[in-house]
Parts: sequence; C-alpha cells; structure tokens
Amino acid sequence: MTNTYAIVLAAGQGTRMKSDLYKVLHPVCGKAMVAHVIDNIVSIGTDRVVTIVGHGAEKVEETLGTTSEYALQDQQLGTAHAVLQAESLLGDLDGTTIVVCGDTPLIRAETMRALITHHNDTNAKATILTAIAEDPTGYGRIIRGEDGQVLRNVEQKDATQEEQQVTEINTGTYCFNNRALFETLKKVNNDNAQGEYYLPDVLGILKSEGALISAYVTEDFSETLGVNDRIVLSEAERVMRLRLAKKHMENGVTIINPEHTYISVDAKIGRDTLLQPGTIIEGKTVIGEGCTIGPNSQLVDSVIGDGTTVHSSVILQSTIGQHTDIGPFAHIRPESNLGNHVKIGNFVEVKKSSLGEGSKASHLSYIGDAEVGSNVNIGCGTITVNYDGQEKHVTSIQDDAFVGCNSNLIAPVTVGKGSYVAAGSTISDNIPEETLAIGRARQVNKEGYVRKMKIKNSTKQGDHDD
Ligand code: UD1
Ligand code: CA
Repeated sequence: MTNTYAIVLAAGQGTRMKSDLYKVLHPVCGKAMVAHVIDNIVSIGTDRVVTIVGHGAEKVEETLGTTSEYALQDQQLGTAHAVLQAESLLGDLDGTTIVVCGDTPLIRAETMRALITHHNDTNAKATILTAIAEDPTGYGRIIRGEDGQVLRNVEQKDATQEEQQVTEINTGTYCFNNRALFETLKKVNNDNAQGEYYLPDVLGILKSEGALISAYVTEDFSETLGVNDRIVLSEAERVMRLRLAKKHMENGVTIINPEHTYISVDAKIGRDTLLQPGTIIEGKTVIGEGCTIGPNSQLVDSVIGDGTTVHSSVILQSTIGQHTDIGPFAHIRPESNLGNHVKIGNFVEVKKSSLGEGSKASHLSYIGDAEVGSNVNIGCGTITVNYDGQEKHVTSIQDDAFVGCNSNLIAPVTVGKGSYVAAGSTISDNIPEETLAIGRARQVNKEGYVRKMKIKNSTKQGDHDD
C-alpha cells in the first residue's frame, strides 16, 4: 500500500496488568502482543512503521528489532501525545496513516486493510474502527448524531450515564489523512477526567471543523479486544488459540479439543497429524505429517518427523526423526537428535544426545551427552554417568550394541560396535567391537546359609523366653 504509514502505540506501562513485564510485551499464543500488531502491519506493506515507545523502550525495541522505526514518548501524557511523537518522522508526508494500539493483538491484517480501503474510498479525514460490544465497559463510546454520522468518541470515565449505554466502541484503531492528523493533534487538550491528551478527540475536533469523518464497523468484536488486564489477556489468548486451531484444522490437522490444545503462532503442523488434548506446541516447532501428539505433551522449538508419536512427554529444542515413538513420560532435553524408528519409552531422559535409526531405550534410563549409533538396545535402568562433579563427558555406544539392564556407563567411555554389556555392569573402560563386557562382582552362593541362620535365631529366642 503506497503513501500509507503506520503508527503503533506502545509506550504505556500497563499499570492494570500489575506486572514487571511491560504490557505490550505480554505474549499471546507465544508472541508479544505488540509483535502481533507489527507483523500484521508489515504483511499489509505500509511504507513506514513507527512504534511509539516509552516504558521499557529498550525491551520493546529488542523484541521488534528493525521491523519498525521508533519514536520516544518520555512521559505518558495520553494517546494523542503519543502519536505526536512521530511528527518528526512522518509529519511532512502526504498520505494515509493507520494508528493501532500495541495492546490489541487480535486485529487481523485483513481488517486493517479493509479499514484503509474504506477510509481512502470515502475520502474522509479520519476513520475510526468500531465494534459492537456486549459489555462496552472500559472502552471509548462512539457518539453518533441523529443522522447516524459519527460525531465524536467519549471515554468511559468522561461518559454520562446515557453515553455509557452506548455499545458501539472505539477499538483504538484509526486511519487519518496524515497531514490533518498532525495539524489536529496540536489542538487536542487534556481537559478530561484522566487529564490526558486523547487521540480519539481528533475526530471530534475535525468534525467540529466541518471535515468528513467516518466509522468502519467490524463484525467481530473479539478481534478488537484491548488487553488492559490479565483477565482480558486470557480471553485474547483464547480467541487467538481458537483462531490458530481453526487454521490448522482447515489445513488437515485433527484437533480433538481446540479449547485444550495450545499452538504457538509460529508452529507448523503437517496434514493428518492428530493433536490430542493437553498438547502444548511452543516456539518455532515443526511437526510432520501423520503424527500423533499428546495427550499431555509439550514440544518447544523442536522438529518432529512424519509418522512420529509423542505421548505425555516433553521435548525441548530437539530434532526427532520419522516413525519414532516417544513416551509416555519421556523427557527429551535440548540439543538431542533422535533418528527414524527410534523408541524412547517411559521415564527415559535424553539430554544433548543422538540416537541413530532403530535404537531403543524403552524404560527408565538417563542418556546424557551420548552418541548412540543405530539399532542399539539400551536396557531398562541404564545410566550414562556423564558428570564427574566438574565436567561433562561423552558416552559413545556404537551400532548394534546391546546394553543390559541397570548398567552404568562411566564417561568418557565407548561401547564398541555389536558389543554386549552384561546386566548390572559398571563400565569404565572402553569395550572393543563384538565383545561381551561384564563389570560386576561375581555372585557367591552360600549353600545352607539360611537354614543355619534360622536355627541360630530360634535358639536365641528360646534364651529370651526363660
Ligand atoms: C484506548 C482509547 C479508547 C479505546 C481503547 C481500545 C484513548 C484515550 N482511549 O483506551 O477509546 O476504546 O483504547 O482498546 O485513546 N499509550 C501510549 N502513550 C500514552 C498512553 C497510551 O503509548 O501516553 C499506548 C498504550 O501503551 C496502549 C495504547 O496506547 O498500547 C492504548 O492506551 P491505553 O491506556 O491502554 O488506552 P485505553 O484506556 O485502553
Ligand atoms: Ca488499552
């Protein structure tokens, strides 16, 4: 969209959130509220994007990076004052400026585009995006004249009883003729209940000067939710969650219960994958086709191959191959790399380790800092003893090896290709290829011992009876 500019308001502290984290940085489905807004603006392609920062300016800039220019609002004197801070960057330009609040993460790019088109088509000096709210409490109310034309906006705290009955609300998104915007901003005063310079006052001023102002009503109120507190934050999360779930279902993913499945904005999921309830997919996780994830699994920044199953397990920053089975109750920690047809069963923890094709650790193991080849069988209770109290060491288990149950592999150590480790062994020396290693004390059978003990004990008991 040419000759179009965007201003995003993100300088407020967000007192009502009662948080150490700046309001616009609170995540919704894994992405900061203000980043949702900016990404949508970037997708509609405005010529310039200016974010007004104040509270937590550095953190906001760190989050958004170079996707936006920044203007600093030192003191938070209100939304009109905030927009005015962009004057040195945008004031001299001809065109249309869209203003969006950084705390309205649900407004879709399509809606912004429709607003701009409506604004340009009607030739208005200002167009306000409005919605009909079931409960308009807290929002600015749109006051229309008898002819239905928009006259002005009135804030909740300044509204009369009668005005408070109005259900058409200001969503906090507007389009302006850029020059008219900066001229009019200087005429806004702070003579109101909050002592703030209100951006929507620009509309009333333009109207009183005889300019054409317009409103564009969105059908979907939920899209316009302004997040001022944690209660609305959870509502925004819910709306976004269902929106994302719908998108994935339309693309061929089965989600048993979208209300109880949590998918981050950046996740990618292949068709015919089944998401069971309690599944949490975070960060830039990529899941292949035909997988079954859940119930109750958490996947963070991981890659899962086609046909893989993850049942009641946690996978963090790891790569999992195709047709691999994980869980129930497995913990795959960062930098792990599991191949195809691998099996990781209950109560197995894997950390910074690789397992080759067809390898198995089916029960109760710790595999840390290990390089495991293909077709290796790791018996129940095996532990790679990777830490000597100061440093971590690597355990190498080569292809086709068989590690018997309850073995300790004291790293650094290598189990050679095709070798066997006898159950219960503690292995501290490298094992060559195709070798059976037994590292445990020899068993001693003391025949008749139990009978002798019993006789001895019963004699003692007799002594006591006397
Ligand atoms: C604002 C609107 C209200 C609308 C609602 C929609 C005004 C006066 N009111 O109210 O009509 O219904 O949004 O959600 O505009 N900000 C700054 N600098 C400031 C003050 C605010 O950058 O000095 C930013 C905040 O960070 C926030 C946005 O502007 O992202 C909106 O401010 P907020 O205080 O949340 O306004 P509301 O009371 O929600
Ligand atoms: Ca708000």
